[in-house]
Amino acid sequence: MISSRLLCCLTALLILPSSSNAADPDPLQDICIADLDAKISVNGFPCKSETEVTSDDFFFDLSEEGNLSNAFGRAVTEGNVHEFPGVNTQGISTNRVDLAVGGINPPHLHPRSSESSIVIRGTVLVGIITTDNVFYSKVVTAGMLFLIPRGLVHFQLNVGKENVLFFPSFNSQLPGTQFVHSSLFNTTPPIPNEVLTKTFLVGDEVINAIKAAITSAQLGHRPK
Ligand SMILES: *[C@@H]1O[C@H](CO)[C@@H](O)[C@H](O)[C@H]1NC(C)=O
Repeated sequence: MISSRLLCCLTALLILPSSSNAADPDPLQDICIADLDAKISVNGFPCKSETEVTSDDFFFDLSEEGNLSNAFGRAVTEGNVHEFPGVNTQGISTNRVDLAVGGINPPHLHPRSSESSIVIRGTVLVGIITTDNVFYSKVVTAGMLFLIPRGLVHFQLNVGKENVLFFPSFNSQLPGTQFVHSSLFNTTPPIPNEVLTKTFLVGDEVINAIKAAITSAQLGHRPK
């Protein structure tokens, strides 16, 4: 006779795989190239008519280095659904990241996706911070992968003597990117100074200096 406790565990096991699914929803058809101009709004984008699908819808060019002339020496070329409508409903996307010598991809997180990145060129310090504030890091070079768990704060710093190139892949068509510094010091409208002085335990002059510096710096990237 199955005890009620065992039954409870079995029920939990049956339910868990679907309820813990953390990636994008599964596609319901072969092809759903995003119609970015569609008038209706859904969770993602409607598909464009299959009669209008062409070979180009399945390809996207990330061969060119981005513009590294900014305060952070970084350039991200995004291959998410906004740039590459072919990934609509597929639950994946890939970016290209370039870092100048000494350049940094400042601490940020992706709310909707884990990240697996392959380093193609250079020497990069990758740092990951857990919700317990444990800091994991390693210097990685060409041919290595690094993993960023979903939603965790992370950064990449070019510590080598040549430009860094890596390609992050995501299990989301639109992973979202939230920078720690901009989400506190460069919002629209600005967060009241009182919140930031009380959070960081410093005076207005420190907060104003950081706000001014960050507002004038170009990320070369607008988080979506
Ligand atoms: C690179 O970005 C800088 C700063 O925004 C800009 O002045 C420059 O024209 C850009 N270069 C190219 C090739 O787009």
